[in-house]
Amino acid sequence: MLSEPRADGEAISLAALTADPYPIYRRLRRDAPVAWVPAANRYLVTRHADIVQLERQPEIFSAAETQSLMIRVMGPTLLRKDGAAHRRERMACEPALRPPAIKNRWTGEFQAIVDRLIDGFIAEGHADLFDRFAAPCAALALGRLLGLYNTPADDLRRWSQALIDGTGNYGNDPEIWARADAAAAEVDAAIDDITPYLRAHPDESVISCMLNASDPLSRDEIRGNVKVFIGGGLNEPRDAIAVGAYALMAFPEQRALVEADPTLWRAAFEETVRWVAPIGMYPRQVTRATELGGTRLPEGARLGVVLASANSDEAVFDDPDRFDIRRPKKPHLAFGGGPHFCLGIWASRVMVGDIALPTLFRRLKNLRLSGDEVRWSGWVFRGPVNLPAAWDV
Ligand code: HEM
Repeated sequence: MLSEPRADGEAISLAALTADPYPIYRRLRRDAPVAWVPAANRYLVTRHADIVQLERQPEIFSAAETQSLMIRVMGPTLLRKDGAAHRRERMACEPALRPPAIKNRWTGEFQAIVDRLIDGFIAEGHADLFDRFAAPCAALALGRLLGLYNTPADDLRRWSQALIDGTGNYGNDPEIWARADAAAAEVDAAIDDITPYLRAHPDESVISCMLNASDPLSRDEIRGNVKVFIGGGLNEPRDAIAVGAYALMAFPEQRALVEADPTLWRAAFEETVRWVAPIGMYPRQVTRATELGGTRLPEGARLGVVLASANSDEAVFDDPDRFDIRRPKKPHLAFGGGPHFCLGIWASRVMVGDIALPTLFRRLKNLRLSGDEVRWSGWVFRGPVNLPAAWDV
């Protein structure tokens, strides 16, 4: 029987979601799996099965959201297009991120980045691994993958944050717009700067592939899509490194498993992004009146697709709050599930699961949480915002 969306979401605040969304999702999955949440100005979709279902029908559950703040900040991008227009841009980027390119071109570079960062602090015996390791590691790797060889990692971190803040600027804060617009202009300048080099020396980088595809992307298409990569390809591997390192320090019996059998590092990576999905929520918009999970949705309804909740859905995962790298393999949704399925999945598996986490635990002896508080934040993106750790020197 179809029902109207219930009022369960009325009392949910963005502050509560940001502090710890998981108890809220548990309640929504049980009582109101497609709930109107005024604070988010969206219907939140929280059950695994409903998200799988909506991703199978992109013509009804469209990524081309109207009045999108992402388009306001970045210009048109592949992430806000459907159908053939989306496929064309995706195909141009894809060769850079396929497994052979990752293996042959990037694995060595990722290992060198990770080792250099660890060399920089190993003698100190303690560090905030979020700031000294996870964030610069993700930024340096992304700069190489994109072909932005001219850009310092700190600029990429700053641009990424400014673009993300702009994409979430529902409060219309002029200072946030100004920072986002300035970052966007700097990204455009960096692309213009590197383009002649990549035309003359085509390689496996994302920008080179966009420029040299059989159906090359235009300057504006490259500008928009590089901003999506910067806004969407830095926070997630950063947070996956930080969450994975946290979990393996916090749960020594899990760490003992990977140390005894290094083939389990990939499972540790997958469990990390299941346990705390780096992208907790992404938007979709309904193109015509429809229903989802037994709830009526009007034409134009804005949805928040809550991957973080799907990954904790007790209908799929036993004891979902537990970090357990031995759990039976089930399809988590941390990388999405439809036509916009993450393009960076192979790069992330290799960079985080094969290199960053194993090298960190191999090189830093007796790596442990320092005892200072680890703070967590976010629901659209979620992870620790610091990771104070210590090791033997
Ligand atoms: C642990 C790391 C990562 C996670 C959990 C993750 C997650 C996701 C998710 C959930 C989506 C779908 C978004 C939507 O449908 O609205 C997505 C799309 C995307 N991701 Fe990732 N991502 C990660 C790393 C990366 C990296 C490193 C890159 C770039 C090198 C990247 C590039 C992209 C791009 C370009 C898209 C858009 C694809 C399209 O629209 O067809 N991601 N990612």
